[in-house]
Amino acid sequence: MLQIKFSSASLPAGGALAILVPEGEKRSAIFQQADKATNGALTRAAKADDFTGKEGSACVVLAPSDAFERVVLIGIGKLEAVDAWAAEKAGGAAASRLGRDEQATLAVGDLSGALVAHAALGAVLGAYHFGLYHGAPEASKNHRLAELSVLTDHVDAAEEAWPSLSAVARGVVLTRDLVTEPANVLNPVEFAERASTLKSLGLEVEVLDRAAMEKLGFGALLGVAQGSANEPRTVILRWNGAANKDEAPLAFIGKGVTFDSGGISIKPAAGMEDMKWDMAGAATVTGLLTALAGRKAKVNAVGVVGLVENMVSGTAQRPGDVVRSASGQTIEVLNTDAEGRLVLADILWYARERFAPQIMVDLATLTGAIIISLGHEYAGLFSNNDQLAAGLADAGAFAGEKLWRMPMGKEYDALLKSDIADMKNISGGRAGGSITAAQFLKRFVGETPWAHLDIAGVAWASKAQNGQPKGATGFGVRLLDRFVRDGYEYEPKD
Ligand code: BES
Ligand code: MN
Ligand code: ZN
Repeated sequence: MLQIKFSSASLPAGGALAILVPEGEKRSAIFQQADKATNGALTRAAKADDFTGKEGSACVVLAPSDAFERVVLIGIGKLEAVDAWAAEKAGGAAASRLGRDEQATLAVGDLSGALVAHAALGAVLGAYHFGLYHGAPEASKNHRLAELSVLTDHVDAAEEAWPSLSAVARGVVLTRDLVTEPANVLNPVEFAERASTLKSLGLEVEVLDRAAMEKLGFGALLGVAQGSANEPRTVILRWNGAANKDEAPLAFIGKGVTFDSGGISIKPAAGMEDMKWDMAGAATVTGLLTALAGRKAKVNAVGVVGLVENMVSGTAQRPGDVVRSASGQTIEVLNTDAEGRLVLADILWYARERFAPQIMVDLATLTGAIIISLGHEYAGLFSNNDQLAAGLADAGAFAGEKLWRMPMGKEYDALLKSDIADMKNISGGRAGGSITAAQFLKRFVGETPWAHLDIAGVAWASKAQNGQPKGATGFGVRLLDRFVRDGYEYEPKD
């Protein structure tokens, strides 16, 4: 992870430098010093490029002097409109353009200390790179930005805000790493092993194997797993940071299908490789708990992730099979590719029964239909509780991980009626596919305030955007960290 250092130093002698430039303000002292040191090259380049500091714009000035290898101007728009998300985008845009020097400098100008820390968070995530399988790891390491000096007049405030955001960054990085790993490496057992290493952060980690899940009656989850040579796992992560250790926890539930071939209802070949990231919900829950533990959040939280591989084989479940879920409700599996809801059915029920949580939020790359509805900008939000839904949507707006509330209603229930079991796992038509999936999940949460985030459209970016690299986004970690922070952490009473 990119190392961040805050300092009030003046202009560096050279190297790679990024400057955040607001629109319609006097140029910052650092800009002027750098301009002078480069004989006015910055002013000339900005003019030639029509760069005025507009949000989302950038002007890269290569080798403006012997000492400066590159100076990157990043537009941040009107200063008074810069919020945390805008600062993160700008930091990411800067880091992704700073080139391949190991060390670089980011001058943030007039941002407040909290916003400076958010710019640093954006920079760390913008510099993210998954290089495990590129040639020799040693060789590739030398060509990445490793340390960023952030120049600000508010060093104290930035340093105060940074440790907790740095913990969030570590959570997002872990989520992206897990999502990016190929399915031959990251199978359910390997995921559980990586989750177990988080004990070092103070998380309690419990792993349920097949026998334990059989005992608990996880017939729906195990039906999905039965076609794979890789053993399934359920992982429970607990962080007890509230002053009252007995306070009911917040529960976060993740779909962890390490590869989704569709099973006997097999998917088409084109694009099937994307289904290595069908465990993004589980990865997000794991990253979130990492963030909460890393910043010692004053909250009790539990993460439950269901890890299976959905494969085709002689032992795979068949269309038409009937399974009994942990709740006792039976399900006719009419399409083995609607497997995420089967996994979630058992772990949602289990989380509720075991932990009696205040609220439950599940994350899942659940339906292709949510991409048809919302594209890649918003994740779908489904909930049985208006207050919970509003809190999540607000946190999403803050974090730049946007949620759009979708309807639910008993009118849709008729679509899940089965002739032979309590319900079937698909409606049989194409209409409202994300809603019927959510309606299915609702049958396993009882009266608990619950929200379901369908992240199929946002877990993976096919191109770099908002200062973030293409590939795994880590969507949901920043959003849920903010949700917890704003809604559930109370100052301890002295
Ligand atoms: N993992 C997929 C959903 C998905 C599709 C995620 C595309 C990301 C990109 C899920 O398990 C699935 O296959 N859903 C089916 C449901 C259908 C069979 C009712 C779908 O969306 O087609
Ligand atoms: Mn599927
Ligand atoms: Zn799936």
